[in-house]
Amino acid sequence: MAIKPLIDASTIAQRVTELAHEITNDYLGKELVIVPVLKGSYVFAADLVRYIELDLSVDFLGVRSYGDAQDSSGVVQITTDLSHSIEDKHVILIEDIVDTGLTVSYLFKNLSTRRPASLKLASLLHKPSRTREAVKIDYLGFAVEDVFVVGYGLDHAQKFRNLPYLAVVTGELPPGASQ
Ligand code: IMP
Repeated sequence: MAIKPLIDASTIAQRVTELAHEITNDYLGKELVIVPVLKGSYVFAADLVRYIELDLSVDFLGVRSYGDAQDSSGVVQITTDLSHSIEDKHVILIEDIVDTGLTVSYLFKNLSTRRPASLKLASLLHKPSRTREAVKIDYLGFAVEDVFVVGYGLDHAQKFRNLPYLAVVTGELPPGASQ
């Protein structure tokens, strides 16, 4: 197994800053709650919030998906729930990558029952060719081909989250990366 650079750190930083400015403009005067989905989105979320020029709070959702990395089952367990109510709050869910869309679609259904004022999605990456459940990504970093991506928070078997850039795993297919 080897890794090959895909998107460099300065390109990521520029796109993340653009998304943060868009969010700032869209939520002026609103009470915003940023909800990163652990673990994969923690680096993206940490960079994004630093360029959102609004009062906001951050609360985390921990999830575990069943099924291997190549084939999400869509059965998602919430392992760490939000620590505060999101009722009447404007919520942005932050994902590392939307692959089949099954995880986000489950989380959207779950969070909607908590009656937020609004619920939107920001995802660093999207693999459109893998879609099984179409989801609207309101703030998207980059669309990628059907490749396994690591770095900038994304892992293969818990490794590579600390790479400052995005890379593609080549060679042997990964046996079960996780959130
Ligand atoms: P989905 O339910 O198929 O959309 O998968 C969502 C989760 O699968 C993501 O939040 C990631 O944790 C994981 N995942 C899917 N593709 C990749 C990848 O290319 N690299 C790392 N993790 C991935």
